[in-house]
Amino acid sequence: MQKLWILALAILAKVFLSLGLGLGMGPELALHLAPDTLPDVQEEAARAVIQRVIGPRSSQLFLVEVSRILDFRSFQISMLDSGQILIAGWDGVSVCKGFHHYLKYVLERDVDWFKMRIELPTNLQLPNVTIRSTSTTILYHQNVCTWSYSFAWWGFEQWRRHIDWMAMMGISLTIAPVQEAVWQDVYTQLGLSGAEIEAHLAGPAFQAWQRMGNIRGWGGPLKPEYQRLQELLQQHILRAQRDLGISVALPAFAGHLPTAMRRIYPNGNYTEVERWNSFPDPYCCGLFVDPLDPIFDLVAALFLRRVVQRYGSNHIFFCDPFNELQPPVAEPDYMRSTAAAIHNSMRSVDPEAVWLLQGWMFVKNIYWTDAMMEAFLTAVPIGRLIVLDLQSEQFPQYQRTDSYYGQPFVWCMLHNFGGTLGMFGSADLVNNGIEAARRMPNSSIVGVGITPEGIGQNYVMYSLVLERGWSELPLDLDSWFKHFARTRYGVDDEGLQQAWQLLRRSVYSFRGLQKMRGGYTVTRRPALNLDPFTWYNASDVLEAWKLLLSSRAIIPLEDDKYAIYEHDLVDITRQYLQISADQLYVNLKSAYRKRQVARFEYLGSKLLQLFGDLEHILASGSNFLLGTWLADAQRAAPNAADKPNFEFNARNQITAWGPDGQILDYACKQWSGLVLDYYRPRWALFLDDVTLALHSNRTFNSTAFKLRVSQEVELPFSNKSDVYPVEPMGNTWFISQNIYERWKEYLRDTQFLHNNRISVNLKLGVQ
Ligand SMILES: *[C@@H]1O[C@H](CO)[C@@H](O)[C@H](O)[C@H]1NC(C)=O
Ligand SMILES: *[C@@H]1O[C@H](CO)[C@@H](O)[C@H](O)[C@H]1NC(C)=O
Ligand SMILES: *[C@@H]1O[C@H](CO)[C@@H](O)[C@H](O)[C@H]1NC(C)=O
Ligand SMILES: *[C@@H]1O[C@H](CO)[C@@H](O)[C@H](O)[C@H]1NC(C)=O
Ligand SMILES: *[C@@H]1O[C@H](CO)[C@@H](O)[C@H](O)[C@H]1NC(C)=O
Ligand SMILES: *[C@@H]1O[C@H](CO)[C@@H](O)[C@H](O)[C@H]1NC(C)=O
Ligand SMILES: *[C@@H]1O[C@H](CO)[C@@H](O)[C@H](O)[C@H]1NC(C)=O
Repeated sequence: MQKLWILALAILAKVFLSLGLGLGMGPELALHLAPDTLPDVQEEAARAVIQRVIGPRSSQLFLVEVSRILDFRSFQISMLDSGQILIAGWDGVSVCKGFHHYLKYVLERDVDWFKMRIELPTNLQLPNVTIRSTSTTILYHQNVCTWSYSFAWWGFEQWRRHIDWMAMMGISLTIAPVQEAVWQDVYTQLGLSGAEIEAHLAGPAFQAWQRMGNIRGWGGPLKPEYQRLQELLQQHILRAQRDLGISVALPAFAGHLPTAMRRIYPNGNYTEVERWNSFPDPYCCGLFVDPLDPIFDLVAALFLRRVVQRYGSNHIFFCDPFNELQPPVAEPDYMRSTAAAIHNSMRSVDPEAVWLLQGWMFVKNIYWTDAMMEAFLTAVPIGRLIVLDLQSEQFPQYQRTDSYYGQPFVWCMLHNFGGTLGMFGSADLVNNGIEAARRMPNSSIVGVGITPEGIGQNYVMYSLVLERGWSELPLDLDSWFKHFARTRYGVDDEGLQQAWQLLRRSVYSFRGLQKMRGGYTVTRRPALNLDPFTWYNASDVLEAWKLLLSSRAIIPLEDDKYAIYEHDLVDITRQYLQISADQLYVNLKSAYRKRQVARFEYLGSKLLQLFGDLEHILASGSNFLLGTWLADAQRAAPNAADKPNFEFNARNQITAWGPDGQILDYACKQWSGLVLDYYRPRWALFLDDVTLALHSNRTFNSTAFKLRVSQEVELPFSNKSDVYPVEPMGNTWFISQNIYERWKEYLRDTQFLHNNRISVNLKLGVQ
């Protein structure tokens, strides 16, 4: 009864806030978006998270309570006379965050996104602590691209684990972009034929870019049967998130339409979207309908009503009219009316609508003058638009825009493009950058987030940002990294902590402006003009590796800590081989220039040996297998007949990315299987060609090579159907130790350009 009262008060408060005072910043805005899930339901959901993490004994150890009497998004931990730990929180997320805090900082155990199960010792004495913590900040997670690069094949089981993780990190806002079943209905109602819709919707691995209007049809068809399964899955996901108090932004209409709309409404005011990354017809250049055209309102209403009907609503909607696409008219007036029209279309379905916008379109885009940005951003009432400052750790836009001209924004670490591997991060920049954004005079920051295009790598960075986001003050990174090592392996060891300090000051201390896109020598198409570089001293990685290797005996066997340890061993071995390949390459290039045939051949054989070692170590790690990606894709297919196209989608996205290698290797993966049958053959072909040229005293013909490698390795890979292991093979520690012995001396006797100037010609911002 009491709880109902409190809920009623909370709802009343919301009404007052949204009617009387307008939407303020920070807590008021976050409160406006919080789902109305009953406290009982949130309590039950939080209890279930804890039970999934520590097992059935959880209810003997922990009691949870969701109480609106507490401060907004806060938790309180205390011990009851029974000896149980009570975790009370404002909502389910706060409780889960409190539980994670107790787990990590009191019991010294941590989860990560690969490992969400913790086994506590049976004789565990829970320490008696009293902890209170509040964070008025929104914690945001997800990028529209994550859904294609990482979540494409997930079923609910994987989602369940990820949502548990999100709640434990305190994440309170996310997105749910699945919309194809809705479009199927809307387009059908508008009079498009099945074939016309089929030509528009992209395949299961490419939906993110079709939703943004970048491409159409590539990788299709997307059968209605699959669309319905995706819709059911998303309903399930939404339910699980809202039960915990996480609010979810839903897709709104941005203006992108199938070309066949011209047949239905020939007089509409359309522009043809410009070609994106050289995608050819029929995969490029859909239509963009002018937001002032009545067709825009018509479609927006048809679409958004259905979205809200099927998915419910937390009053927040996202859409990005100009993501990597130039607006048709470069004038402030046009931008103002466009933004206003889009927001009005949301408001006509939900008067309390808030628009969530990716700030990506402003990044490094000379097209967007300050006047245009200001017109666009201020066309919506202050507090009704939230901007995700998408890559704040490297290219923040909030300063340039006077804090988005007063519109609330979320400071986001993007960090990863395309779900590529490679250790890197900017720990100090993140720690201080959030502080700077909060302290800026008149800052309109309302949250901190992570917006990786792909997940599954560099966990430490995501853990760091999310804890930093919750915390009001900067973290002491020295002790944070020490503690990270302790809780990661469940043992307090000097060597392990030192290993992580070495990583922190090397791979995790990136401060450059180069665009890190995972394109290292091993994963790039071979050529004689690559310029690999590192920003750190490779000896630090070698030393960290050695320390990890020597800790094998002290890693506790209980609690499966050894699995995490093995994961990290694979990753650091991979990292060192990746750097070694860069260095081998630099020497190969010099041998070619000097026409040193014997040296070239020797180095070439070393490089091929390195690929063999890379394949071997990756094959021993359960999170580095091409087989898993392909098997998951096949499993996601609604029936047997669709499996080949799902496999094609999975293979093409991580290699050619398009019919002819349009964004070749953008989403490259250092995975077992891919090294064996894609990266290594490519380099073997190259080494052969160059050696031949050297022997016959000709210059290497790079045009001929590109053609050959594309036709013999890169494009055919998408169409193959070889099956790869889904289980790891071999003993990681022995393999790693072996590789260590083989490669540890190599770098010492080669001179490699440390911190060398780069001229990498990677495309800007392919999301
Ligand atoms: C826990 O500690 C608090 C503060 O020291 C104390 O008041 C309380 O009695 C303790 N509870 C238990 C069950 O030991
Ligand atoms: C069509 O839209 C463009 C902007 O894309 C605008 O400049 C033009 O005036 C519109 N035409 C009509 C007939 O409304
Ligand atoms: C902050 O906002 C106030 C009130 O609008 C204004 O007077 C002041 O100049 C602003 N400060 C800065 C540094 O922009
Ligand atoms: C790299 O680290 C090693 C070992 O700590 C050290 O001997 C070497 O001088 C360092 N090199 C550079 C360029 O800093
Ligand atoms: C290779 O070609 C260069 C000039 O292109 C010539 O000077 C040299 O003698 C040639 N060497 C051989 C072994 O043919
Ligand atoms: C290089 O190869 C291309 C494609 O096969 C060919 O057209 C061109 O003539 C070759 N160039 C030289 C210098 O042999
Ligand atoms: C792959 O298969 C598709 C048909 O499924 C075909 O159109 C395409 O040309 C093939 N590509 C290659 C490189 O074999």
